[in-house]
Order: sequence, then structure tokens, then C-alpha cells
Amino acid sequence: MLEIHVVQRDNRHLYEHYFDPYFQLRHDIYVKQRKWMALDRPDGREIDQFDTEDAVYLFCLDDEKLIGAMRAVPTLSPTLMSDIFPYLSLRGPICRPDVYELSRVFVIPERRGEHAGPRVEMLLLTAITEYGISIGLNGFSIVLEAWWLPRFERCGWKAHPLGLPQMMDNMSVLAVLVDCDEATWKSLCRQIGRTSPILTWRGLSGLNRQLLPDISLPHSPAVQPAQ
Ligand code: COA
Repeated sequence: MLEIHVVQRDNRHLYEHYFDPYFQLRHDIYVKQRKWMALDRPDGREIDQFDTEDAVYLFCLDDEKLIGAMRAVPTLSPTLMSDIFPYLSLRGPICRPDVYELSRVFVIPERRGEHAGPRVEMLLLTAITEYGISIGLNGFSIVLEAWWLPRFERCGWKAHPLGLPQMMDNMSVLAVLVDCDEATWKSLCRQIGRTSPILTWRGLSGLNRQLLPDISLPHSPAVQPAQ
């Protein structure tokens, strides 16, 4: 069964056995497959300076196998935008309590694209929006390749550019701020045919979470994400 788990400082001990395979997967995907050689490390793990205690991970597990993930870092802490790509944001890096920076979103190769259900990547976008609403965020900052923009547009993620795209290693890269709000979450849930929240908050019952809007009424017909 497919589940998306919130993993952060307070419950990381429950997921410790996932971290080594997770960092190996990141190395396989970003270094070996995508050839982002700046991330290469001799130990075959892709870990950077933003994998700190402040980082929040969404782990997508299918029968306990890690098949996709995403990382979110509070923008009050150091981020990719503040420390590596500050020039991508014309007004300076985002540094706000209500905005987290997203990075390292991936799905393992054999689970990409269209399958029987909604695509895993759409589940992750829905899940991070649910996470944002739950902890009172209003947005996500992202440094991304420009090919994400039409994908975000299709699924209803409103991405506001913070500066002009720049070419880096043959990639067109820019910084954006994406709205995190209830309307977007409801729309994403509708697209993937969900009538209940998606996230598993194991070991996080002490966390102060905001109420989510009611999406229990079935949506008819369930709309699949446009491609
Ligand atoms: N460059 C340009 N377009 C890309 C792309 C890339 N590196 N990766 C994906 N796309 C776009 C393409 O339009 C692709 O369509 P195509 O099949 O005609 O090429 C479409 O996304 C579908 O991508 P696919 O990988 O088949 O499936 P998906 O939507 O389930 O997964 C990702 C998308 C990004 C999650 C997945 O490709 C992935 O994990 N990639 C590696 C990690 C990564 O690069 N993450 C982004 C930076 S953090």
C-alpha cells in the first residue's frame, strides 16, 4: 500500500533505516543518471549541507519500499537559494517563516509516468501542499529547471518567478515562489481522486497542526492530471 510519511527531527529515529538507502538513491538519480557531478561523493551517498536537523522529508513508501521523496527546508535556515543561487532572485533570497524551500524531488525510474493510479510525483505535490497547510505555510520557494513550469501549470500549482532563468550546465534554471493554499490542495486532491488526507504523521502527534478543509465528499468524476 502506498503511503507518504512526514519525517523530521522529532520522528526521524523511527525512519533511521530508510536514510542510507535514501541517500544512495539520491546519488544514483542525481549523480549517475542526471550527471549532476558537483554532487558526487566517493561514498555513493548524495548528502548536502541542507540535510540538517531542520530538513523535513516526505518519503513515499509502497509496502515499505522507498519509491519517491521530496525535501523541504525552512527558509529561515540556509537554503539552496540563500547559499548557492542568491542571484536567481531579484529581490534577494526568500527568508520567511511561512515559506519552506523544496528540493530533491524524485521518483524511482520504474515508478515514473502513467500507471494504474495517479502518478507518484502528483501524490508528492499533493502531499507537500497538505503538509504546508497543516503547519501554516503560505508558499514554497524552489530553484528549478524551467521544464517544471508547464507541469506545475497543468496541475494547478501557481509558480511566480522571482528572477530570470539562467543557463547552468545546459539547464535553464530559475527561482520561483509557489502558493500553498487550501484551494490548490483541494484541486490536487480532486485530480488524483482523493477524498481524504494523504500524509502519515507517525510519531508526530505532539505537533501543532492546523485543521484541513473537508474533502470527504466524493468528487465525480475523478479527474486525472492533464498531461
Ligand atoms: N528534463 C526535461 N524534462 C523532464 C525531465 C528532465 N530531466 N525529467 C522529466 N521531464 C518531463 C518530461 O516532459 C517528461 O516527458 P517525456 O516522457 O516526454 O520525456 C515528463 O516530465 C515525465 O517525466 P517522467 O520521468 O516520465 O515521469 P514522472 O512525471 O513520473 O516523474 C520526475 C517526474 C521529475 C519526478 C522524475 O522524472 C524524476 O524523479 N527525475 C529524476 C529526479 C529529478 O530530476 N528531479 C528534479 C530535480 S530535483
